Amino acid sequence: MTNEKCIVESHEEIGSGYRFLVFRARFMAPQICPGQFVHVKVPALEKSALRRPFSVFDAENDRVTVLYKTVGRGTLALNAVKPGDTIEVMGPLGKGFPEKCDGTAMLVGGGDGVAPLYALAHRLVVRGKPASEIKLFVGGRTKEDLLALDRFAKLGVEVFATTNDGSYGVKGFAVVPLDEEVKKLREQGAKFELFTCGPDGLLKAVSDRAMSLGVPGWISMDRHMICGVGACYACIQKTVRGNSRCCIEGPVFAAEDLVW
Ligand code: FES
Repeated sequence: MTNEKCIVESHEEIGSGYRFLVFRARFMAPQICPGQFVHVKVPALEKSALRRPFSVFDAENDRVTVLYKTVGRGTLALNAVKPGDTIEVMGPLGKGFPEKCDGTAMLVGGGDGVAPLYALAHRLVVRGKPASEIKLFVGGRTKEDLLALDRFAKLGVEVFATTNDGSYGVKGFAVVPLDEEVKKLREQGAKFELFTCGPDGLLKAVSDRAMSLGVPGWISMDRHMICGVGACYACIQKTVRGNSRCCIEGPVFAAEDLVW
């Protein structure tokens, strides 16, 4: 983990309040595992303001990309950051996804929960996994909530998109096409693992499936990481070991470890 002054390379709105922030972090970037997060000190906020946590969308060479949604004072202030600015970033933090997968990697995401799933898909491909063995099941309320699908498609990952209002892809929830594809894999006797990040309802649905199917399930809990280093206990998740801090023992947990 490092605390690094990073030059912002680009900062673009990708629709509906979501943004990609790309910065150079030559010490941090090579240490990042998919599913880990970083803490950004927002330049426009007062010195005493807490850092803001962001999930890593991608880390390659010395370049880190985060995907975030503008939801409050901190992210609104972060909107003002421009290419060429310097930001102070601490990371990588937390425990990420395993960087290997036995069989097909079934990624299930909602909203900006696709961020760590893209990092994982990219890393698996870089490590030699055929993109045909990675599938993304993504859901949102409307098509505005479906993010970075072009990036997944560019990797060669098959994308199954759903929206609650039917404005893009199949109307319904991401677990519907997931269940159909799981059924096909089981009929073929093929191995697979489940990886998910998004709202709690989706996480529980995927976790329940991993447990009932008896396959590995890797669940990235979406909790607000206030301190990011285990000091404030704001990110507690019940697990079979008792209360766990998502910023230290997570945010990624094995499905069998979680208590809902
Ligand atoms: Fe403070 Fe986890 S964010 S203990």
